[in-house]
Amino acid sequence: IDFSLKNKVKDMSLAEWGRKEIKLAEAEMPGLMSLREEFGKDKPLKGARIAGCLHMTIQTAVLIETLIELGAEVKWSSCNIFSTQDQAAAAIAAEGIGVFAWKGQTQEESDWCIEQTLFFGSADRPLNMILDDGGDLTNMVFDKYPELIQHVRGLSEETTTGVHRLYERMEKGTLPIPAININDSVTKSKFDNKYGCKESLVDAIRRATDVMMAGKVAVVGGYGDVGKGSAASLRGAGARVIVTEIDPICALQAAMDGYEVKKMIDAVKEADIIVTASGCRDLIRKEHFLEMKDKAIVCNIGHFDIEIDIAWLNKNYGNTKNTIKPQVDLYTIEGKDIIVLAEGRLVNLGCATGHPSFVMSNSFTNQVLAQLELWLHADKYENKVYVLPKHLDEKVARLHLKKIGVVLEELTPEQSKYLGISKDGPFKPEMYRY
Ligand code: NAI
Repeated sequence: IDFSLKNKVKDMSLAEWGRKEIKLAEAEMPGLMSLREEFGKDKPLKGARIAGCLHMTIQTAVLIETLIELGAEVKWSSCNIFSTQDQAAAAIAAEGIGVFAWKGQTQEESDWCIEQTLFFGSADRPLNMILDDGGDLTNMVFDKYPELIQHVRGLSEETTTGVHRLYERMEKGTLPIPAININDSVTKSKFDNKYGCKESLVDAIRRATDVMMAGKVAVVGGYGDVGKGSAASLRGAGARVIVTEIDPICALQAAMDGYEVKKMIDAVKEADIIVTASGCRDLIRKEHFLEMKDKAIVCNIGHFDIEIDIAWLNKNYGNTKNTIKPQVDLYTIEGKDIIVLAEGRLVNLGCATGHPSFVMSNSFTNQVLAQLELWLHADKYENKVYVLPKHLDEKVARLHLKKIGVVLEELTPEQSKYLGISKDGPFKPEMYRY
């Protein structure tokens, strides 16, 4: 770890462009901006040294500057080798913030970047909070730098896959600090994962390939929150969508939403576009590749690049790989061309700019509330995984209503009594599924 290195980004001359985009994003991120108003004066995060590992995009820049406005020191890396927007990273670096991120890294560079965020200027100023997306930073601290754990009050985790890793640790009794699961705030998974992918999946496929989507057959592997948004995205563009699932409930949902549900091995035979969205591994393997149509487009929108067996592809047909442009590769398998996007890494951040600001404001408002809660009240929490209480989830939603012209009803005293619910909420019991 090089303590003297302040940041490392691709090109500082992009900072001005990045700043202009950050300004535009702020107008679409009312949740974060209102937290700046609510807490900016008191600086409740004073003393917090937050290491963050989350796609270094324009939206994330607004998150970073919100944490700083609330008093924190922040260092940042991206959680994916392709997801950084270099103009966002440059704009953040130009503010003197320690960001280590650029688009198109090797895995080694990515690990190096995460490592640079562990200390704030000197060996005696380690991180004391973690903000993670996918668990790579968390794992680095827990497994490679366990001596740092004692300094860390808590962590907040953004995504399904990272949360899954945390629950595994909790069950094994190896979670050493309290954690807040951001993903399972309703205002995260039911919005970012769903409505975010609804906008960003087709955006990515279009930017990468310019293919006409209307009339095509698309397959979505997995019908959870991301799968639901992805299938809606493709249907919205006029594609005929087939879903694959292992869970009978999600399969039934897909069918009743009007999608065909099949096995992947059958679906790939007719598919023009194949998208994995499961958080599982090996949805697309050798036998699927061999059955694909000529010019089939294959991509993944789940967190890790193991949903598609790219390793098999590279081992057996790597010699046919023909890069059309960055993050768009054509392989020829037994005479058929297959187009692979973002090397099987999450396509919406690899081939486009991820989700729009407005939906990310919901996710990131949860993140800031979680960091505040853990920084100020870590002693209230055991070494377990928590979700934010419902009143905060409802607060996040409430902060986003005005921007889009939503006007709420208010319970009358009689209605409030009849339902047994305060007019200020929470409006639903914990088991309600939305
Ligand atoms: P989820 O758990 O709600 O849904 C995953 C679905 O895939 C489940 O219904 C499961 O039954 C199904 N599934 C699992 N293995 C399968 C298999 N072998 N074949 C077919 N279906 C299978 O998870 P969620 O929230 O939808 O997230 C999925 C992935 O996307 C995760 O890795 C998550 O971290 C990531 N993610 C990506 C985002 C992006 O912007 N690209 C945004 C949010 C999450």
